[in-house]
Amino acid sequence: MIETLDAIFQRRAVKVFEPVEISRELREQILNAARHAPSSFNLQPYRLYWVGSAAQKAVVANLCLGQKPAETASALVVAVADLGSLSSTAQGQLEWMRRSNFAETKIRDYQRTAKIGRILFMPGPFGMFAAVKHAVFRLLNLRKVIGMPPLYRQDLFKWATKSTSLACQNLMIAAEALGINTCPMEGFDGRRLSQYLGLSSRYHEIVMVIAIGKKSSAYTEPPQWRRPLHATVTVL
Ligand SMILES: Cc1cc2nc3c(=O)[nH]c(=O)nc-3n(C[C@H](O)[C@H](O)[C@H](O)COP(=O)(O)O)c2cc1C
Repeated sequence: MIETLDAIFQRRAVKVFEPVEISRELREQILNAARHAPSSFNLQPYRLYWVGSAAQKAVVANLCLGQKPAETASALVVAVADLGSLSSTAQGQLEWMRRSNFAETKIRDYQRTAKIGRILFMPGPFGMFAAVKHAVFRLLNLRKVIGMPPLYRQDLFKWATKSTSLACQNLMIAAEALGINTCPMEGFDGRRLSQYLGLSSRYHEIVMVIAIGKKSSAYTEPPQWRRPLHATVTVL
């Protein structure tokens, strides 16, 4: 296993893979690293679909527009922002807190936060609740600095996409550290891929597909270019 910074600097989007078997142990290490990423309110609003069987990989690769990284990968991970998992995740955390003998005050605090989250994160039919909440927050903002939480479904997907992307990055860095290469892809047919995975457009949005495998010895990456630090960073 290599050091974290080495993994970050070595990682490249690899476009051609060699056919190698990814062991169950390796798969679990990589996925475990993904779910250890930070997430908003610790709600982990995503689901990762590991596509490893040849037949399913072929279908998904085709839905990734037949891109070479997808076609040659040993496995594909479809990272989905998942708004349908929020209540069960909060419930899961609450049960875990009770099992772990958290102080009653901490449990009540969490229950309260989860309840507020449930009220805030429910856009309602045709975004009706969201419109009302939006107006309330606009008014509250006149008097207090409280910002605007994600209210409409599109805001909620944007919110969930941030945490999903962090999980994806963890996955790619962990894979690199374990000697496996990756390529993130947003070139896919979202509608068909969602249908194939049985996703619902109400709760799910595919964020990216990650091709995973061992870089082909016949493939050489182009040199890596990044904007200089001063163009990327503002130090205040
Ligand atoms: C959100 C996202 C979407 C991407 N989509 C694709 C894609 O569909 N196909 C592809 O070959 N590479 C894709 N890439 C890889 C980028 O082209 C690559 O990361 C970038 O050129 C920098 O190269 P490097 O990662 O090797 O440093 C994507 C990367 C990101 C972060």
